[in-house]
Amino acid sequence: PETGCLSIIVLGASGDLAKKKTFPALFNLYRQGFLQSNEVHIFGYARTKISDDDLRSRIRGYLSKGKEYQEEVSEFLQLIKYVSGSYDSGEGFSLLDKAIAEHEIAKNSMEGSSRRLFYFALPPSVYPSVCRMIKNYCMNKSDLGGWTRIVVEKPFGKDLASAEQLSSQIGELFDEPQIYRIDHYLGKELVQNLLVLRFANRFFLPLWNRDNIDNIQIVFREDFGTEGRGGYFDEYGIIRDIIQNHLLQVLCLVAMEKPVSLKPEHIRDEKVKVLQSMLPIKDEEVVLGQYEGYKDDPTVPDNSNTPTFATMVLRIHNERWEGVPFIMKAGKALNSRKAEIRVQFKDVPGDIFRCNKQGRNEFVIRLQPSEAMYMKLTVKKPGLEMSTVQSELDLSYGQRYQGVVIPEAYERLILDTIRGDQQHFVRRDELKAAWEIFTPLLHRIDDGEVKPIPYKPGSRGPAEADELLQNVGYVQTHGYIWIPPTL
Ligand code: BG6
Repeated sequence: PETGCLSIIVLGASGDLAKKKTFPALFNLYRQGFLQSNEVHIFGYARTKISDDDLRSRIRGYLSKGKEYQEEVSEFLQLIKYVSGSYDSGEGFSLLDKAIAEHEIAKNSMEGSSRRLFYFALPPSVYPSVCRMIKNYCMNKSDLGGWTRIVVEKPFGKDLASAEQLSSQIGELFDEPQIYRIDHYLGKELVQNLLVLRFANRFFLPLWNRDNIDNIQIVFREDFGTEGRGGYFDEYGIIRDIIQNHLLQVLCLVAMEKPVSLKPEHIRDEKVKVLQSMLPIKDEEVVLGQYEGYKDDPTVPDNSNTPTFATMVLRIHNERWEGVPFIMKAGKALNSRKAEIRVQFKDVPGDIFRCNKQGRNEFVIRLQPSEAMYMKLTVKKPGLEMSTVQSELDLSYGQRYQGVVIPEAYERLILDTIRGDQQHFVRRDELKAAWEIFTPLLHRIDDGEVKPIPYKPGSRGPAEADELLQNVGYVQTHGYIWIPPTL
């Protein structure tokens, strides 16, 4: 691994994302020995004029729950310095560069390189100017070697045109290998497992296609609304917030062909092909919803047409998937919180158990909470009678991997950025293809031509969504519920 000085600069250091996700992830990496205090220094940058200690006390409470690791927390906080400045002036960024350089000189008295990681915990409206400032003032010192990388978060634009504009503005200043577009779903344990599951197991190989699979659902449900984020959310809506990025990335990993190798470019090549094979979304295969009370948020306009729920069918026009609906479903303020992939197989041909058959085979990957995968299958009901019952082969992580801590998505992804591994990041052409799929529909929603149906908070969402599911072939198993095993 590379050694030498590593500077991690969190831009937007006093914002929500930095406090809730970035700094805690950095702390966890530090605690586990992935960030060495003799190499790493962390800089917070934002507009507010506060001291190093002010920043430290603002983030302290987010780093560790309760009284655990207090000593490590204090050590970690000492690695953080704060620099204030605007996002479009040379003044602030040259101060920042000076602070970084001082630390590089101090740490590089022996030998080493200058590695600079800029984490954008910022609204995308300032990305272009911040990129320009970094390019002009803060690049790594080439005589020391090393690199400069930037990590950016969605939303990457609002539609195809704005996303392409943003991409070219950033692309003029940084090369693709320097740009890490985070989609934190790619850092989740069971999303990362998809590649292994699909391509390291004989079980799935012959079944994973249109001959055997009837439909696939990729589902995201939250049991809370847009609390406190109404202003942001209303600009984007559930399709841009969840489906166009998180669920679509999952879909790519479920649907793609086997990559030539595990090299990041080989994997991303296959994902792009899936996106490029998508058919246009049909209006009659979309159900939008908006929960009642959403517009009570003072930051949401009274006439908002923004969906907080969507179910839609995506179709991949290729040899493997023609005719198989990929049902994407995402909603806020529903009756439960979970994310899962549900692969439903076709009925058994020439079924001899017809009279008491209860359901189709399903393979479910529960991304969260209670990470698990299980295969729903029909077995003989134990006992004297010859009857059948739905059961499951269950791999529940909490039970199978007791004592193993599953890392936070951000932790893993930040480590990848330091190591220079772009496998779990979104490439520019991938992003473009993703926007191409949704832009026509998004424009029609923005123009008010397609309208969300109201639903009760705490419900399953609009009933029309369940009808759509049935219409495209999903068969619900009645009387069966998977119960996560208790330890
Ligand atoms: C974010 C969305 O990207 O993902 C949020 O902006 C959403 O609206 C969140 O709540 C969900 O992430 P997770 O990891 O809790 O499923």
